[in-house]
Amino acid sequence: MALSLLLHLLGLFLVVEPLSVAAQTANISLGSSLTASQGSSTWQSPSGTFAFGFRRIADQDLFLLAIWYDKIPDKTIVWYANGDNPAPKGSKLELTTDGQLTLTGPRSQEIWKPESVLSGRVAYVAMLDTGNFVLANNNADYLWQSFKDLKDTVLPTQVLEIGEKLNSRQTANSYSQGRFQLQLKSDGRLVLYPIALPTEFAYQPYYQSNTSDAVDEMNSGYQLSFNESGYLNVVRRNGNIDKLINKTLLPIRDYYYRATLDSDGLFTQYAHPKSPKNGSWTSWLPVWSIPENICFEANGDLGSGPCGYNSLLQTRREQKANL
Ligand SMILES: *[C@@H]1O[C@H](CO)[C@@H](O)[C@H](O)[C@H]1NC(C)=O
Ligand SMILES: *[C@@H]1O[C@H](CO)[C@@H](O)[C@H](O)[C@H]1NC(C)=O
Ligand SMILES: *[C@@H]1O[C@H](CO)[C@@H](O)[C@H](O)[C@H]1NC(C)=O
Ligand SMILES: *[C@@H]1O[C@H](CO)[C@@H](O)[C@H](O)[C@H]1NC(C)=O
Ligand SMILES: *[C@@H]1O[C@H](CO)[C@@H](O)[C@H](O)[C@H]1NC(C)=O
Repeated sequence: MALSLLLHLLGLFLVVEPLSVAAQTANISLGSSLTASQGSSTWQSPSGTFAFGFRRIADQDLFLLAIWYDKIPDKTIVWYANGDNPAPKGSKLELTTDGQLTLTGPRSQEIWKPESVLSGRVAYVAMLDTGNFVLANNNADYLWQSFKDLKDTVLPTQVLEIGEKLNSRQTANSYSQGRFQLQLKSDGRLVLYPIALPTEFAYQPYYQSNTSDAVDEMNSGYQLSFNESGYLNVVRRNGNIDKLINKTLLPIRDYYYRATLDSDGLFTQYAHPKSPKNGSWTSWLPVWSIPENICFEANGDLGSGPCGYNSLLQTRREQKANL
């Protein structure tokens, strides 16, 4: 009985959903703008999974231009434009009729604009259901995309190429640059290492994948791929893949995924149920982290390394053990 009622309800949702999708515009009209204030409007992806807009930083009258998971109570931020330079209330993001995007403060000072935009005419701008915010030309080539402006988080379908980096943020509530980086090195290794700020001097890695082959270059890694089933793999030039972790995931049909280089230096994959369980929401669950034990694997000169965060790591290990 209960099951058939549930299926019936699900059926209703399936009927209702397309109507709400149709009510939303996928492409953002050129000439639109957003203003930094509480409860200001946002640009949503077609299904409403992701939103792009301003988010107030806790207890401050400052705002981040960000992308977040919009259908869950946490509204978890997965990308931010101006972590080191938060925008005062009243700042404005303008999308001009020729497709230029600029964030300016209340005194008309420029706060942010996209870097490395490829040349060409912007035909449309869209917040996609993958979480990628794109400026595209008439051929649907991306002239700029948030997926290539890496911060601390990667999402399913996102790919990191050689040389691309994630940066941790300072703390859970501060989005300025933190002390750790993840990078796919030119020799094919995925490495995690502490950095000095503000020089970004790189200390010895505390994690490296075994995906470099000095003898056969074709057998070396060249991409970190977060595939559409939610698995993170290092892809080698010859097409072979190395899973980052041997673990079977809960189905991506039912869970949102993200992988974040956390402020404590752990690269962690998280899952979040897409709907409440037994009427109540649970938050993000850590699925795995690398390195598994940050202190044992650390060798060499760690600088101001991650081991000082031991108690935090301990807490997180207990959290995972309880899953
Ligand atoms: C967005 O605009 C582009 C270019 O005009 C078009 O090809 C695409 O279908 C539009 N997308 C949606 C969802 O309307
Ligand atoms: C790294 O991979 C090579 C080739 O697959 C293997 O022979 C070697 O034992 C691995 N090293 C480690 C430390 O796992
Ligand atoms: C994603 O990668 C996993 C291995 O980590 C593989 O089993 C799975 O088939 C891949 N999914 C897709 C859609 O490529
Ligand atoms: C996953 O399992 C395979 C086969 O057992 C093994 O070769 C590989 O090293 C494992 N990878 C990791 C990241 O543990
Ligand atoms: C939902 O509630 C039922 C009955 O109380 C319980 O058996 C089940 O484990 C709960 N499921 C979850 C995911 O909490």
